[in-house]
Amino acid sequence: MKKKFKSIKVKLYHKLINNKLIYDNKPLNRYKNSVNIIPNMSLTKKQNLLSLLKDKIKSIRNCELKKNATNLVFSDGNALAKIMIIGEGPGANEDKEGKPFVGRAGKLLDKMLESIKLNRKNVYISNVVNFRPPENRKPTEEEIIRYLPFLEKHIEIINPKILLLLGSTALNAIIGNELVISKARGKWINKKIGNIETSVIASFHPAFLMRQPDQKKFAWEDLKMIRKKISEFKINLNGK
Ligand code: URA
Repeated sequence: MKKKFKSIKVKLYHKLINNKLIYDNKPLNRYKNSVNIIPNMSLTKKQNLLSLLKDKIKSIRNCELKKNATNLVFSDGNALAKIMIIGEGPGANEDKEGKPFVGRAGKLLDKMLESIKLNRKNVYISNVVNFRPPENRKPTEEEIIRYLPFLEKHIEIINPKILLLLGSTALNAIIGNELVISKARGKWINKKIGNIETSVIASFHPAFLMRQPDQKKFAWEDLKMIRKKISEFKINLNGK
């Protein structure tokens, strides 16, 4: 009788301290479990989650990108925006200022947004990787995979109605490695990311457009599709 009582007590104790911690070999993703994405989150709630995410990225270990970078480049724009833009990774200017798209490619991005009556107050911007790849190289497959859970969480927190992927790195990271930007651009794709669903469109990266200005006509087609979608979705550009 005494023994039975003891085993019930042990069971209750294990339940209380979460016996998974003792018996399960699977690694626990405590960060993932601690973030609860709810629709129409307030700005304060989003800012808290974003700040948690930023701290998590800051504490990444044994990362070649972080070792060589000056600053973490997290985001720019309006956290309540319904349009989110993803680039590849910070360049020298972004690394210096700690903000995405502030160099020459950023100036072109601003012009592209302006052409469809948008600016950084109506959108939210981030990148596939948050530290500058040395010598402006592309992030490696391994680096992309390492940063992808952060990017997906970032997208989940922002919960955009429209997600614009700039260039092949963002396209391949979010949609799939087999896709080629020249073929995949200008097409709407419904995509579930974590607990949210969003309309994704890919277009050319502004840095590519600076090298190949004859391709700007295609980027313009994509931008017009976004403008149309904004009306269709009746998106409030102030993010409310
Ligand atoms: N290119 C990118 O992909 N991201 C930036 O932030 C700047 C340039």
